[in-house]
Amino acid sequence: MVSDVVIKLVDVKKVYRTSSVVTWALKGVNLEVKKGDYIAIMGPSGSGKTTLLNIIGLLDKPTSGKVIIDGRDVSKLSSREISKLRNYKIGFVFQSFNLVNRLTVFENIELPLIPRGLPRPLRTKLVKEALLKAGGDLSWLLKKPNQLSGGQQQRVAIARAIVTNPAILLADEPTGNLDRKSAKQVIQTFTKLNQSGQTIIVVTHDPEVANCCKEILVIRDGKIIGSKSPDLNRCIINTVE
Ligand SMILES: Nc1ncnc2c1ncn2[C@@H]1O[C@H](COP(=O)(O)OP(=O)(O)OP(=O)(O)O)[C@@H](O)[C@H]1O
Ligand SMILES: [Mg+2]
Repeated sequence: MVSDVVIKLVDVKKVYRTSSVVTWALKGVNLEVKKGDYIAIMGPSGSGKTTLLNIIGLLDKPTSGKVIIDGRDVSKLSSREISKLRNYKIGFVFQSFNLVNRLTVFENIELPLIPRGLPRPLRTKLVKEALLKAGGDLSWLLKKPNQLSGGQQQRVAIARAIVTNPAILLADEPTGNLDRKSAKQVIQTFTKLNQSGQTIIVVTHDPEVANCCKEILVIRDGKIIGSKSPDLNRCIINTVE
């Protein structure tokens, strides 16, 4: 049977230890993400949002608890299998874009396709489609990222994240470094992607971003303490000119 659960977390805990400090960043998180979900995660600074997103995105491992992706328990996989799963299933967008400045926009978007050994004409087609879907412009392809504005760079980063057609798109404060108009464009793009079936989780401090999602989860002190219904009238798409 094909399940529509993309990712499941069972009692996930994460502890960071340094020589002098022990921090329980996550204290038992349970979460089920289904295909087509559009979830905002909100909570105070230090509450564990980035830690949670990095664990969902297989960038980090929990100290205990289970991460199940496509029915497979990630703790039972080798690091090579995890990398492959990450490449095939996850797209990541960061607050600071994380583009490679010595590569062109084309080469940046193409990066996740390289391990797949696809022929160049197909890669070119996928790169262009992703950039257009991300609200970008094909005239950017030969530019370097630092020749673009922040909002444009974030659209390139979104293109890179979706070029593999990932099961889930994760974004950590994707509008944190953007002006309101660029933030609105990024969230318009996310909303459109979600309307065509893309599963998305967005970590944000911005209520006007969270209100565009279908569900808002509230995290505090390493635990999901509840959920709120979004208010579409206060979604940035409907409030910013
Ligand atoms: N690599 C690390 N080593 C030690 N402690 C860490 C590490 N990463 C995070 N922490 C701690 O874990 C807790 C949760 O951090 P996390 O980055 O997940 O918070 P956050 O909710 O994303 O905060 P912000 O809104 O400021 O980005 C914090 O107390 C933080 O100091
Ligand atoms: Mg964070």
